[in-house]
Amino acid sequence: MQNPPPTQSYLVQTDAVRERFGRLKQRDVILEVRRLGKRFVTRGGEVVALKGIDFKAYRREFVCIIGPSGCGKSTLIRILAGLETQTEGEVLLDGQSVTGPGRDRGMVFQGYTLFPWLTVKQNVMFGRRMNGAGRWEAERDALQWLDLVGLTKFANAYPYQLSGGMNQRVAIARALANQPRILLMDEPFGALDAQTRAKMQSYLLEIWKNVDITIVFITHDLDEAIFLADRILVLKAHPGEVQELIEVPVPRPRSLAQSSSPEFRATRARLDELIHPPTAASEEDISLPPIIRMTDVNDNVE
Ligand SMILES: Nc1ncnc2c1ncn2[C@@H]1O[C@H](COP(=O)(O)OP(=O)(O)O)[C@@H](O)[C@H]1O
Ligand SMILES: [Mg+2]
Repeated sequence: MQNPPPTQSYLVQTDAVRERFGRLKQRDVILEVRRLGKRFVTRGGEVVALKGIDFKAYRREFVCIIGPSGCGKSTLIRILAGLETQTEGEVLLDGQSVTGPGRDRGMVFQGYTLFPWLTVKQNVMFGRRMNGAGRWEAERDALQWLDLVGLTKFANAYPYQLSGGMNQRVAIARALANQPRILLMDEPFGALDAQTRAKMQSYLLEIWKNVDITIVFITHDLDEAIFLADRILVLKAHPGEVQELIEVPVPRPRSLAQSSSPEFRATRARLDELIHPPTAASEEDISLPPIIRMTDVNDNVE
């Protein structure tokens, strides 16, 4: 019997297979970050961007990374991508040390990074062609990926003819066309309006469900992280260190309606505490109305 084309095995077709992968997730470690540190030497002195970062991502897991601006999120993802070198520790992908960029990692950034002179289809084919795939094979696979992101009709359009959300869907298709083990996304929906952003989150979950891929996704939007992630890595700034790793208890499949569920709200409250810790009373607080003491009905009020 002939082997199926690689893309077909990469696509997870049925719920049963997904369930199997769900169980695999429990033990298959894809990514391991060990005691990772990064110092930048600048004219003004040394910046410790990352310090002692330790975490693992499991096969088919969706990990979000959040933290205040400047806590090293982009630096971390660039090191995972092999675009930046750490000053301490190591990154293992499938047990192999990451020393530079590679096909096993796909990236999607915030800005539109498509080649404006190529059509949508040619953009998706580009990486495959660079890696030596034949024209016919690259084109066949590109159309399959465009189908997955719902853009078959726009295969021959140019990026400027597409909306921002559609451009990012092409960027996702282009990243997946190389069949990476892991997809690294740095605030990919940050430039989109709220409505498009919400749609893109649902699209991404749908794509993720259908592909054997692990996603590491950076965002500063707490609700986005809860909606998407299995686990959320919370970083703190100066130096960029792991503050907490939170398991998201919101069941899948996820829907926007869940944002008022107790699980969602509890996670949101915890993230708020971590990201916006209460500060000492400032002068502004003085103008606030007196705080009403909330008590439980069974509470004994003195
Ligand atoms: N190339 C660089 N040279 C010097 N400092 C840098 C460089 N890149 C990032 N930094 C510093 O490292 C810290 C983390 O930056 P970054 O990873 O971009 O944070 P985030 O993405 O969380 O906003 C910041 O203090 C930033 O100024
Ligand atoms: Mg950043």
